[in-house]
Amino acid sequence: MFLGLDLGTSSLKALLIDDNQRIIASTTADLDVSRPMDGWSEQAPGDWITACETVMNDLQASHSKELSAVSGIGLSGHMHGATLIDQADQVLRPCMLWNDTRSHAEAATLDARPEFRDIAGNIVFPGFTAPKVEWVRLNEPNIFEKTAKILLPKDYLRLWLTGTHVSEMSDAAGTAWLDVAARDWSDELLAACNLTRDHMPSLVEGSAASGGLRKTLADQWGMTADVVVAGGAGDNAASAAGVGAIASGDAFVSLGTSGVLFAANDAYRPKPESAVHTFCHAFPDTWHQMGVILSATDALNWYAGITGTDAATLTQELGDTLQGPSDVTFLPYLSGERTPHNDASIRGSFSHLSHATSRQDLTRAVLDGVAFALADNLDALASTGTKLDRVLAVGGGSRSTYWLEVIATTLDVPVDVPVGGDFGAALGAARLGMIAATGAAPAQVCTKPEIAQSVTPNKGLSGAYAQARERFRASYPAMSALS
Ligand code: XUL
Repeated sequence: MFLGLDLGTSSLKALLIDDNQRIIASTTADLDVSRPMDGWSEQAPGDWITACETVMNDLQASHSKELSAVSGIGLSGHMHGATLIDQADQVLRPCMLWNDTRSHAEAATLDARPEFRDIAGNIVFPGFTAPKVEWVRLNEPNIFEKTAKILLPKDYLRLWLTGTHVSEMSDAAGTAWLDVAARDWSDELLAACNLTRDHMPSLVEGSAASGGLRKTLADQWGMTADVVVAGGAGDNAASAAGVGAIASGDAFVSLGTSGVLFAANDAYRPKPESAVHTFCHAFPDTWHQMGVILSATDALNWYAGITGTDAATLTQELGDTLQGPSDVTFLPYLSGERTPHNDASIRGSFSHLSHATSRQDLTRAVLDGVAFALADNLDALASTGTKLDRVLAVGGGSRSTYWLEVIATTLDVPVDVPVGGDFGAALGAARLGMIAATGAAPAQVCTKPEIAQSVTPNKGLSGAYAQARERFRASYPAMSALS
């Protein structure tokens, strides 16, 4: 038995699989995001521990026998968060999350130093860890002085589970302090932020062991004393392990809180100026590229909240037949945007509203806007030489076939939908736990799911979507001038 723990932005999920990767149990505990100021996004690390206790207690209540047979755990989590802890491992302030853009000025300052793009292979985005810690250094110097270690969110969970300060390559690549080609911390980049290697956890590959489950927790949950905790991965690399996207040419689109177009690479191929992210994969000697948009289901959930309903109701109201683009243009930049704009101050908008505009027109506009933003990411990836022929769909938003039709038509690539099941980051994490505990080969464990359906581009509507995308693209400079 193997256990995947995925610390998502809106919930922590535990997934238990057996030796044949059959799903035995899955349970979640909700998490909140606090937004004390415009552009801020925080979580209390203590809430992650509480959520983890909740899911583990649930599993123990419902599947104690299977839990006692677990030999490997894998961790996955939302990336880039800065969890600052003191010498006694006490949390010093709320964790600033991946979609927190308050440190845009610090990000621009670091990004202007050529060594960051040269060594870390990426733009220093405001959402990355380094500028956040710079913000703390400049705005909360007392906290910066007390900071003994800087951990990524899932690595704080690991500290609680194993007592070790360890990270792994895929998540570490999103800090802006990793030498992404060499797969090691860069002393030069750390020094540029008044930090040293001592502030950082040690590094393992995602598929390697990072420590063992603490005895007190193993006893509490009725587990054995020798459970291995794998390095695991940032949520996108973990999702890739979950859908078997580990070889060059494998790609997926993730419709989660954020939206991601992910491509696995067998070599390190950075092109920072494209705003494409180039990170280590969860396996030795592999890398990946991603275009990242900050609001995918986040945009639909925001709109559902405004209209007093839920996302599923809104998408069901559209029926199953693709209707063509909405007359309304929606920019999904609710908390700024990463790829391709790298713009922390841009905000979302609806434009071209009329008396005739209905709730469904606005729902369609939201789905279209996210699809157009993903199409911008496809172009950004193409500019690096990475062409995607087809993509697999993962994440909560992929439950809407209507949305997938909009995406297939806008991106002009088939979108494959896996058979019912769970192929997200939690499965990828469990698979990494399996590899670390058994020594099995990644390609044997990280197989591709069976495809239930391929959503193909609707050629009859592609012209209309292309025109609507032009309106979308023209809205960005107009909105950018206002923000
Ligand atoms: C990736 C990113 C998001 C988060 C949250 O760079 O910021 O995908 O990992 O899911």
